[in-house]
Amino acid sequence: MPATQKITLHNPLDMHLHLRDEEMLHNIAQSSAKSFSGAIVMPNLVPPVTTKEAVIAYRSRIKEAIDDEAFTPYMTLFFKPDYSRAFLEEVRDEITAIKLYPAGITTNSEGGVSGFDVEELRETLEAMADLNIPLCVHGETNGFVMDREAEFVPIYEKLAKAFPKLKIIMEHITTKESVAALDRYENLYATITVHHLFITLDDVAGGMLQPHLFCKPIAKRPEDREALLRVALEAHPKVMFGSDSAPHPKHAKENCGCAAGVFTAPVALQLLTELFEKHNAPIENLQAFVSTNAQKIYGITPLQKSVTLIKEPFVVPAEYNGVVPMFAGEEIAYSIEEVNVG
Ligand code: DOR
Ligand code: ZN
Repeated sequence: MPATQKITLHNPLDMHLHLRDEEMLHNIAQSSAKSFSGAIVMPNLVPPVTTKEAVIAYRSRIKEAIDDEAFTPYMTLFFKPDYSRAFLEEVRDEITAIKLYPAGITTNSEGGVSGFDVEELRETLEAMADLNIPLCVHGETNGFVMDREAEFVPIYEKLAKAFPKLKIIMEHITTKESVAALDRYENLYATITVHHLFITLDDVAGGMLQPHLFCKPIAKRPEDREALLRVALEAHPKVMFGSDSAPHPKHAKENCGCAAGVFTAPVALQLLTELFEKHNAPIENLQAFVSTNAQKIYGITPLQKSVTLIKEPFVVPAEYNGVVPMFAGEEIAYSIEEVNVG
């Protein structure tokens, strides 16, 4: 990307977002709704979103929180291995994907899957493939924290082989092993966050501990970040931007027992623009990474929204309604100049 002063992104999509509920939903929903056309909304509420009624009710709470902002919440269900074909047919039109969490692996995932027995999952996953419902996966084992994602790759491969018609999205990938898996199976795709393109474990724990950069999966090694950067900057057709923006109240982060999650929604597009410019990547690639690839993979047509970014320093606020964003108090290179709907 040339060192342009201004760029316009069309219909940006965030393919992995935590919008939460109640007060937090009201506090943070605008951060995404103002600058994105839509987002895949994660279902890990308490209790998780597992019924058609819960999806419909959560969507209407989101709509209320975003007021009249032009923004589509693409809804998801929390995967349960006992979802029947009849249930999936009934809920199909209300959802865009289903999110699978290994049991207990991260925030509010206690009711997830333990053991990945193909036969146990067969009825549900075959029905999802037939109904063209993508499976989004949090791919970590409960092994050593730096190895959890790489250890999960054989599970991705097992699922990809057993269910070749199922679209499997490896969510928020952080390792070179996951990047390599992308090209081995036609039905594997991935989302990448902005924070994993910027930081490594050194930024989290190499100096003073940085709770606001602590998330799951944890940021890995420089060579992992390099592998992620390569496929993001070239806009590999199987990768999409998914922020995994995961707000927690300041006190839950700056605490003995820090909650996992980085809040990036208000600064994601500015940081991505800075990154693509820094690496001289074409602006078309940024457009593909933040929208077009996702449209093709998911078969969605987003609301029309253009976001113009200008190369003017922006000092990231210390807090947004009690939530500390990534790079709080620091100066970043781009600002959002204007957003046009339609
Ligand atoms: O860091 C994370 N925070 N990773 C997840 O998978 C969940 C998320 C959250 O919901 O807070
Ligand atoms: Zn997430």
